[in-house]
Amino acid sequence: MVSETKAKIVYRELLKEDLVVIRLVPEGGMPEYQTGQFLTIGVPIPAEKKIVRRAYSIASHAENRDYFEFVIRWVRKPLPGRVTTELFYASVGDEVWLGDPSGTALQISEKMHDGKPDNRRVICVGGGTGIAPFVAFAKHFHDTNDKREVVVLHGASYVDELSYKRLFTHMEMESEKRGRDLWNCRYRAAISRPKEFFNRSWNGHVGRVESFFKPDKKTGLSPVEEMVGEEINPENTIIYICGYQGTIDGVIDSLGPKGFVTEHDKKSDGSYAIKYESYG
Ligand SMILES: Cc1cc2nc3c(=O)[nH]c(=O)nc-3n(C[C@H](O)[C@H](O)[C@H](O)COP(=O)(O)OP(=O)(O)OC[C@H]3O[C@@H](n4cnc5c(N)ncnc54)[C@H](O)[C@@H]3O)c2cc1C
Ligand SMILES: NC(=O)c1ccc[n+]([C@@H]2O[C@H](COP(=O)([O-])OP(=O)(O)OC[C@H]3O[C@@H](n4cnc5c(N)ncnc54)[C@H](OP(=O)(O)O)[C@@H]3O)[C@@H](O)[C@H]2O)c1
Repeated sequence: MVSETKAKIVYRELLKEDLVVIRLVPEGGMPEYQTGQFLTIGVPIPAEKKIVRRAYSIASHAENRDYFEFVIRWVRKPLPGRVTTELFYASVGDEVWLGDPSGTALQISEKMHDGKPDNRRVICVGGGTGIAPFVAFAKHFHDTNDKREVVVLHGASYVDELSYKRLFTHMEMESEKRGRDLWNCRYRAAISRPKEFFNRSWNGHVGRVESFFKPDKKTGLSPVEEMVGEEINPENTIIYICGYQGTIDGVIDSLGPKGFVTEHDKKSDGSYAIKYESYG
């Protein structure tokens, strides 16, 4: 049975007017959970005289026993979202309701279909706030000294929505410093509205995040393959995606011809190389 607990807002960082990072501490202490899961946040809506709950991906990793972190978009169109509006008006010290962590769609694969350890390169594809579970992934791999290669790709409309750029850049720099045999992390961002004035100084990858997988007509290699220095295939790489269905479909369109199938559509031997959670 799903249980609920009260939780206090202990930190609130407004990244821009409609994007916030919040940290919550449950009243009875942190429950056990798996990196990559989500949970429901419930807030009382006075006009409806009830608690309304919505799912949010946990951006902190399971080894963090101090708080849950979330990155949340304030939904304002066509009408203000009920839960996000309450959350954006909430302050440090206010209380909300938390459901149990749940979801297996983005649980990290530890074993291959044949029972051998899954040591494949991990490519994480996050669209907008869909970066949340991959912040948790990267911190989990880092803090557990996991030697797998981790590539994080983040797509956003505007440069100030690259919410964890500083953290991932720092993680990539640490790889260079310590050596990739000890910690192997790369990060690239894509800006999907490069022509807008606000993005005028962006000189990185342009387009939606799934375009990292589109092969170049001349070389046959995609930008992500250029980055990792080899062709990716289901034997050397597993892909995790969190974002709009269009993002998921775009990645599958590019990787399907290379033999990548999703966990929902495993091969006859039980193998797969794509896991995803859709915004719906
Ligand atoms: C597994 C999972 C993980 C998620 N993780 C995150 C996350 O990490 N971060 C994040 O920001 N979000 C996340 N979400 C989305 C989140 O659960 C909510 O859907 C989102 O925050 C909007 O909730 P809300 O109550 O503010 O909006 P709602 O009130 O539910 O509104 C939803 C939509 O309907 C529109 N609407 C509302 N009322 C009306 C009306 N009367 N007529 C017409 N349209 C209307 C709103 O404008 C909005 O577009 C996740 C969802 C899932 C399923
Ligand atoms: N797991 C989940 O279910 C989950 C997780 C997080 C957020 N959400 C909800 O999803 C909604 C939007 O999230 P957000 O604000 O984080 O995203 P966003 O910032 O609006 O968009 C992020 C990126 O996705 C692109 N995009 C927009 N529509 C797309 C589509 N149909 N197909 C492929 N790519 C698309 C955008 O490109 P353009 O610049 O071209 O628009 C942008 O590059 C919010 O309501 C949020 O609450 C759900």
